[in-house]
Amino acid sequence: MGGFKRTSFLTRSLIPDRNSGKNEPTGLPRMHRLKKGVLIVFEGVDGAGKSTQARLLYERLTKAQFEAELSKEPTEGTWGKKLRKLIKEGRGDVGPQEELEWFIKDRFQHVEEIIKPGLEKNKIIILDRYYFSTIAYQGALGVDPREIEKRNGEFAPEPNLLFLIEIPPGAGIKRIKESRGKETDSFERESYLLRVSQIFHSLEKPFIYRLSGEESVQKLSDQTWEITTAHLKEHNLIER
Ligand code: TYD
Repeated sequence: MGGFKRTSFLTRSLIPDRNSGKNEPTGLPRMHRLKKGVLIVFEGVDGAGKSTQARLLYERLTKAQFEAELSKEPTEGTWGKKLRKLIKEGRGDVGPQEELEWFIKDRFQHVEEIIKPGLEKNKIIILDRYYFSTIAYQGALGVDPREIEKRNGEFAPEPNLLFLIEIPPGAGIKRIKESRGKETDSFERESYLLRVSQIFHSLEKPFIYRLSGEESVQKLSDQTWEITTAHLKEHNLIER
């Protein structure tokens, strides 16, 4: 299990001096170059705040002259679009196993077209949801989480860092209702999301950092920034 470590002492030197580009021949600030690609994943139950945090980390890294890309699942591809429709309009007669196949097809395309090429170019790839969502959400529909993990492990690279944003049961649903005015939530949906959070909570991987979604947006963003920059430094990943 990851656990959040305080690492602020490592990060200060990574934050570029805003004027550092002034002496470059081009006048442009110099981009950092990494020795290899880094995959960073944000996961959490609906309403935990992961999309906001994924975007903030992307913006901070880009501002600090790292080459980063932000992407999400389900994607905007053919399978991703089908999945969004299914999630929005209801599952109809699509069973959990078939739904799992759609998520895997969508992810396969995502890995081939975005994730692997980006990592090969030594970029930082930030994902708003990845296969841990499949383990939790399709697992909560009754598919064996170990089978889901195995299927994904056959083609999807493991993340270097996974930020799991956790909130108490019910809090996410409350937030969705308040902030998006979504009239979603039946009792059935609430108990489904509770099972999803329980599976997320039970995940144990050395790259998982559990963060409290009840912290302020700014504090969470500072935490993901510190952990990310410390990771780059500890693994000596910055070429320049
Ligand atoms: P998302 O777009 O992140 O929803 P939101 O921005 O509203 O939080 O995800 C859409 C839904 O897709 C979400 O309810 C979780 C679900 N999902 C799965 O069930 N399995 C998966 O593998 C993924 C990636 C998402």
